[in-house]
Amino acid sequence: MRYHYLFFLFVLPLVIVSACREEPVARQEAPDSLLQEAPAPATKVSDPIPLPKTGAGSFENLVADFESKDRGIWQKPNMVISLLGDLEGKTVADIGAGTGYFTFRMVPKAKKVIGIDIDQRFIDFMDSVKVRLDERYRDRFETRLAKADDPLLSAEEVDAVVLVNTYGYIGNRVQYLKTLWKGISPGGRVLIIDFKKNNLPIGPPDQFKVALSQVERELLTSGFSIDKIDQDALDYQYIILAKKPLKPQKNTN
Ligand SMILES: C[S@@+](CC[C@H](N)C(=O)[O-])C[C@H]1O[C@@H](n2cnc3c(N)ncnc32)[C@H](O)[C@@H]1O
Repeated sequence: MRYHYLFFLFVLPLVIVSACREEPVARQEAPDSLLQEAPAPATKVSDPIPLPKTGAGSFENLVADFESKDRGIWQKPNMVISLLGDLEGKTVADIGAGTGYFTFRMVPKAKKVIGIDIDQRFIDFMDSVKVRLDERYRDRFETRLAKADDPLLSAEEVDAVVLVNTYGYIGNRVQYLKTLWKGISPGGRVLIIDFKKNNLPIGPPDQFKVALSQVERELLTSGFSIDKIDQDALDYQYIILAKKPLKPQKNTN
């Protein structure tokens, strides 16, 4: 039991810090059926989905799940981060950062990365990793305890936002995106990655997932434009890259 505790306190943060270094990720071949999301039934923008509970299971289990060894194979974090383009001089928010799986990988590339979560345990976890970061990077990273309906960004504070495996946890998503909009600089990007609906071996049950088509509609309704949609690059997840247009269109806040 004592060794179990020591693992989470000392060993896992070291593993996360070392994971921040660039490592080539092995290509995993998947059957074609896994690469496309099954067509979703027609839903309206406002249709709610049942919200999964993030607190289920022990915290240690959640950490082990988010940081699982095989995740690099299917998650391809370096490829995902590269979709945001050159992050030099940019401020990035990782909303629903969890253990900081993406947050810490972006720190060496960006001017600043804000690891945002609504769960104090993940904020504490990321802060415990921060003290082990290379000194050059420590000032580029901060955590922020947010509200479920507000990421608490100040006006145009960030140039890019990442939401990985988190979108489905958000309640009134169109309203949330409109609030988020205010925190993004004109021309800023929003990268949403979530699990395809297809009863896949990895990810939550289908009823907790938001269909790609619905994410797209909600982004457009909130005033974002869509830059890229990719259902092939990741075996289990879709990728959607949106942009806050330089000239605001019809975001009615
Ligand atoms: C499945 S985890 C994903 C963690 C991380 N993005 C990753 O890919 O490893 C979902 C995270 O979102 C957080 N979360 C849930 N609802 C949220 C909200 N409304 N705002 C910000 N974070 C939220 C949870 O506390 C949890 O850390």
